[in-house]
Amino acid sequence: MSKNNPSYLYNPELCPCPKAVKTNCPRFRNCEACIANHRVEGNPQQTACEKMATLIVYYSLEGNTDFVAKKVAEALGYETLRLVPVKKYYKGGFLKFLIGGFDAVKERTPALKPYEFHAENYARVIFGFPVWAGNVTPPVRTFIKENDLSGLKIAAFACQGGSGADKAFGKLKEALGIGALEAELVLNDPKSKPSKEDDKQIQEFCAKLKDGLR
Ligand SMILES: Cc1cc2nc3c(=O)[nH]c(=O)nc-3n(C[C@H](O)[C@H](O)[C@H](O)COP(=O)(O)O)c2cc1C
Repeated sequence: MSKNNPSYLYNPELCPCPKAVKTNCPRFRNCEACIANHRVEGNPQQTACEKMATLIVYYSLEGNTDFVAKKVAEALGYETLRLVPVKKYYKGGFLKFLIGGFDAVKERTPALKPYEFHAENYARVIFGFPVWAGNVTPPVRTFIKENDLSGLKIAAFACQGGSGADKAFGKLKEALGIGALEAELVLNDPKSKPSKEDDKQIQEFCAKLKDGLR
């Protein structure tokens, strides 16, 4: 379909302007700036609002979560924010599990390197994290503590070695004070052990997210 096809332009019944949703903008559904910028571009085709509406916030120690974050971001045209703790976690040896696992169990919130995030620009945040000791990774916990995410939709994906993601999702919901996630995805070391099944699951997750703001 061509870009000039009216069905790809601003549609007051369908367009999920995140700013309007967040701020109750009185001009919602009748905003010139919104309408002017609301053209669909790229592949996959997306409206300006859809592109703006979701941010993938993630932490990755060894690259698996980063791998998934980039796949989802590429598939849906979303922005990403990779969290980096000031004090880096060990990547190998005994200390990797000891210190990371201890911080996760104790639900610590380590300081993060400076990042930019303005909740009012988004309608949804997707968290991505590796499961640590059946819990949310500490840097993600810091982000939740530092930002008011109320009113935003929340989805999440977790990478694990074999088990614990369900428990970690429970911990994530507890930290956010919410009862449910909009969409969930769990993968076992998807970068180091890639599989066709993982690709299928990522596609299904993306399809659910794409429908979610409609
Ligand atoms: C400190 C630490 C604790 C972990 N705890 C778990 C766990 O409880 N369950 C599990 O299945 N995998 C666990 N893992 C493995 C990671 O969750 C898994 O390898 C994940 O894919 C790594 O993601 P990343 O490459 O983005 O860091 C742990 C890894 C670390 C470093």
